[in-house]
Amino acid sequence: MAQPEIHQFPCLKDNYGVLVHDREGGVTLSIDAPDAATVRAALDERGWQLTHVLVTHHHADHTAGIPALKAETQCTVIGPKTESVRIPALDQSVAEPDTLQLGSLSVQVLNTPGHTIGHISYWIEAAKIAFVGDTLFAMGCGRVLEGTPEMMWASLNKIAALPRDTELYCGHEYTVSNAKFGLTIDPDNARLKQRLAEAEALRADGLATLPTRVDLELETNVFLRAGTKVIRERVGLQSAPDWKVFADLRERKNRA
Ligand SMILES: [Fe+2]
Repeated sequence: MAQPEIHQFPCLKDNYGVLVHDREGGVTLSIDAPDAATVRAALDERGWQLTHVLVTHHHADHTAGIPALKAETQCTVIGPKTESVRIPALDQSVAEPDTLQLGSLSVQVLNTPGHTIGHISYWIEAAKIAFVGDTLFAMGCGRVLEGTPEMMWASLNKIAALPRDTELYCGHEYTVSNAKFGLTIDPDNARLKQRLAEAEALRADGLATLPTRVDLELETNVFLRAGTKVIRERVGLQSAPDWKVFADLRERKNRA
């Protein structure tokens, strides 16, 4: 397998679209499809033919572009089994531990519920990349809308357990807001301060702060660090289970 080419581009208000092009195998994947016109323009810009849409979860800002893209390209739409009735034009439903062979790419499905009940992520181990939708964001995480905090905590840890040099592509550009919140909880984290400054500089130039990486998140994401002594002491939950500390942090972020 040659390393696939990746094209990430802003969509809608603060979503990202991502295209994965495997020249060797003749496939181009769109990770979610927030908006057909923007995905189409990104495909045209690169001269790539869409072959598959890989859906992370059913929310409209990840699926609204599917019907038009499928009508135009006859692409195959693949998404989470548990949400199959809520995703338009789905051809194939998948769940962990399924592996998809798409061109020369071997794509592993990870169940990452919490934001929605059937949310899945896609991991291309050989390319050291994963697409985590609205589960994990740079220095943040998705809201727990359908699952439980315990479920979301397990999903975040599944992503954090991927090889440390795995690049993580996320559904939204929330990095600056997440870093500012993180510093209210973890104010002495020098790496977090540095990442906020880097993210602010990128955004000032209109650039993306993503993808992030597993090792960076382990150092700077307060949600992933919920079980550490430092974070427990900051929120006054020294002996609660890790997931309860996580739930408390998520509540604080919801109110911030
Ligand atoms: Fe979402």
